[in-house]
Amino acid sequence: RAIHLFRENIWIHFREHGRELPWRKTDDPYRILVSEIMLQQTQVERVLGKYEHFISAFPDFASLAEAHFSRVLELWQGLGYNRRAKALQQTAWKVIEDFSGTLPACQDTLKTFPGIGAATAGAIAAFAFRKPVVFIETNIRRVFIHSFFPKCESVRDTQILPLIELTLDTCKIREWYYALMDYGVMLKQTVSNPNRRSAHYSVQSSFQGSDRQIRGNILKL
Ligand code: ADE
Repeated sequence: RAIHLFRENIWIHFREHGRELPWRKTDDPYRILVSEIMLQQTQVERVLGKYEHFISAFPDFASLAEAHFSRVLELWQGLGYNRRAKALQQTAWKVIEDFSGTLPACQDTLKTFPGIGAATAGAIAAFAFRKPVVFIETNIRRVFIHSFFPKCESVRDTQILPLIELTLDTCKIREWYYALMDYGVMLKQTVSNPNRRSAHYSVQSSFQGSDRQIRGNILKL
């Protein structure tokens, strides 16, 4: 029951406030990989200004693998942390050389690529291959702490991961993780940006009831 309410809460927010982002409109593992690497340490707004141009210049693994690194860096300008650009090209080389040009779908295999950690591997498995994987990143972590560990000083990922698994909506895995991320972004804006508070407050307050119910029910579990 608590699980049902939690899901409902996240889905309602997504229906009304879900973000349309270019990398959410593609099934191409390459495009999804590029977006996830760019999003690792860079704000969505900044990535939006760079992503399409990068994809036009390097539309697939082959073109990225063959490119001069100086050209890759040129297109990476403004995103920062250039080490990621290097890792991305190394990943393209490895995909071409060791995987016949096809990005593997397995989370553990993805983790062996340069610049791909647990969170990025999970995101790629879920978004590009619709695998019902369990992964955590900043926004997802914020959602679960807010909903299930309010007032807790420090919460370990090992406490959160079982809840992510328990609440996973495996039928719509890709959209479910988008929804979690968007909910997490909303929570952050509600707390840190007073100007946006009113815009998000109605969303917040209208769900406060069910939110409290979730907490109560989880405590009872
Ligand atoms: N959509 C898909 N992946 C995302 C991410 N890492 N951050 C925000 N939105 C996303």
